[in-house]
Amino acid sequence: MIDLPSVIGHRGAAGLAPENTLASFHAAAARGLEMVEFDVRLTADLQPVAFHDDTLERTTNGVGAVALRDLAELKRLDAGSWFAPQFGGERIATLDEVLLLCRELGLGVNMEIKPDHGREVETARLALERAATLWPVSGRAPLVSSFVGVCLTVARDLTPSWPRGLLVKAVPEDWRDRVAGFGCSTIHADHRHLDPALVAVVAQAGYSVLAYTVNDGVRAGELLKMGVCSIFSDYPHSS
Ligand code: G3P
Ligand code: MG
Repeated sequence: MIDLPSVIGHRGAAGLAPENTLASFHAAAARGLEMVEFDVRLTADLQPVAFHDDTLERTTNGVGAVALRDLAELKRLDAGSWFAPQFGGERIATLDEVLLLCRELGLGVNMEIKPDHGREVETARLALERAATLWPVSGRAPLVSSFVGVCLTVARDLTPSWPRGLLVKAVPEDWRDRVAGFGCSTIHADHRHLDPALVAVVAQAGYSVLAYTVNDGVRAGELLKMGVCSIFSDYPHSS
């Protein structure tokens, strides 16, 4: 089974700083975390950036689709004031910036590939090519996850030695075939769809179950007790 910390910061530490920005990764490191999750998507000019939504409105002062804007335009946006005024200087972070900062801070990474419809292969390919260039050979390899199967296939082909995680809302009936086909080590599910029997079955088959997004300490304890390997939290702490 893959060795992972019991708590992984979600989008950096999304409850403490604006999600997926460099401030969020600094916040995760300041909490003593070992590992963070973040989302990767492509700009119009094919630059991988750390960004969750397909549109800009919720987490920036911009409007419209990320996929229709070049990186230079996106870099002019304020990606922090929506969260709190003191984060007004935060910008949308490129994948390169995130990986270099995580290296510097000693954070392991779970890179979630979030492609726009029709850009599945190129999103995975461009993100993984950058990551393979920037991430050190030694140390914890990036965990690559996606809700989109073809992204995991690209990861299997381009970075075969890096672990892969199948992202789902609820664990599907055909989970064995899917994790085997993509060569996954982990299944990442919405914690509301997990129960002890299901976690036990998956764990007995040799796969680690990761649960998102858990912001309640009591629930986190329940999940870890039932055999969940790691929880993703917006308010992470290391113990
Ligand atoms: O990777 C776990 C979690 O981030 C998946 O859902 O929508 O928060 O990216 P979402
Ligand atoms: Mg995510």
